[in-house]
Amino acid sequence: IRVAVVFGGRSSEHAISCVTAGSVLQALDAERYEVVPVGIATDGRWVLESGNVERLQIISPDKLPEVDADREQVTLARTSSGAGLVVSDPTAPPRELGDVDVVFPLLHGPWGEDGTLQGMLEMAGVRYVGAGVLASAVSMDKAYMKIVLAAAGLPVMPSTTTTAREWERDQGAVRERCEQLGYPLFVKPARGGSSIGIAKAHGPDELADALEGAFEHDPKVLIEVSAEGAREIECGVLETLDGDVETSLPAEIRVTGEHEFYDFEAKYLPEEATELDVPAVLDDATLARMRELSAQAFRAVGGEGLARVDFFLMPDGSLVVNELNTMPGFTPLSMFPRMWAATGLAYGDLVDRLVSLALQ
Ligand code: DAL
Ligand code: MG
Repeated sequence: IRVAVVFGGRSSEHAISCVTAGSVLQALDAERYEVVPVGIATDGRWVLESGNVERLQIISPDKLPEVDADREQVTLARTSSGAGLVVSDPTAPPRELGDVDVVFPLLHGPWGEDGTLQGMLEMAGVRYVGAGVLASAVSMDKAYMKIVLAAAGLPVMPSTTTTAREWERDQGAVRERCEQLGYPLFVKPARGGSSIGIAKAHGPDELADALEGAFEHDPKVLIEVSAEGAREIECGVLETLDGDVETSLPAEIRVTGEHEFYDFEAKYLPEEATELDVPAVLDDATLARMRELSAQAFRAVGGEGLARVDFFLMPDGSLVVNELNTMPGFTPLSMFPRMWAATGLAYGDLVDRLVSLALQ
């Protein structure tokens, strides 16, 4: 089975995608799969990567991994026998590199996790791992995701949406909606990930800075009531080969030290003080409800393959869905593979399942 592992990409989560790809490349069984590592550089160029697992996985505060943009350029195209990679260096004649059976789009954020790449793969007629166009697009946009989740009866935090344009023209209207929601508020780029660009506004005097920071990543921003005093718990969802939905044991994140929330550093830099309880310590009723809500959230967005559903367990014991990620991180520190390992599905088997689902 020929698998093209596509990673990197144009979004601010480029580095996380590289670390994720490093782990998945390592886990794909060489006897079963012929792996073709394809990097998308930060400028959007597709290249035939070396797939050097060690280089991809080194992450530190002053060095984030990146796709090697100098390598041979490729595109994915329809061929006479299916879809495959074609060398597309401007200086050389086009050369086919053979068909691929399945694409593993290990991309986070816009231009990868948001349905755009999925649309391209549909057009090329190639199978791929994970969510389709609609589920990817809905889940990438936190504002639409909430609309869909709420319409399906799932509990979400109250929020409002604004744009850079509205903020420029009518600050008063935005400020008024924020007052109505009540501070503290979380300000999030609508189509971001890995907490990049997210800030907490403790009061109205911090709103402008928080918004301006978020607008650097997205002209559309979600402003959401902070789930004060809540526990942060996540749950993995996987499809089964017979079309059912399975959920993992949930896990809890406890952010300590100077991090007020689960920000980028707390998420990925190993020396940062984040404690993960895999699995989370929960009473049976909460555990059962969380797993049920996770499956419901997955169905609500029309998920396929996999997702990670992130929750707040509120001080009163109720559960609120924070969000759903259609391509959750697969780094060694990431929750998704660790939750499945705790549930009895090892990393290699998880990756196998995802490829098998795509090939069905
Ligand atoms: N957006 C990051 C990769 C996650 O959800 O894990
Ligand atoms: Mg996310």
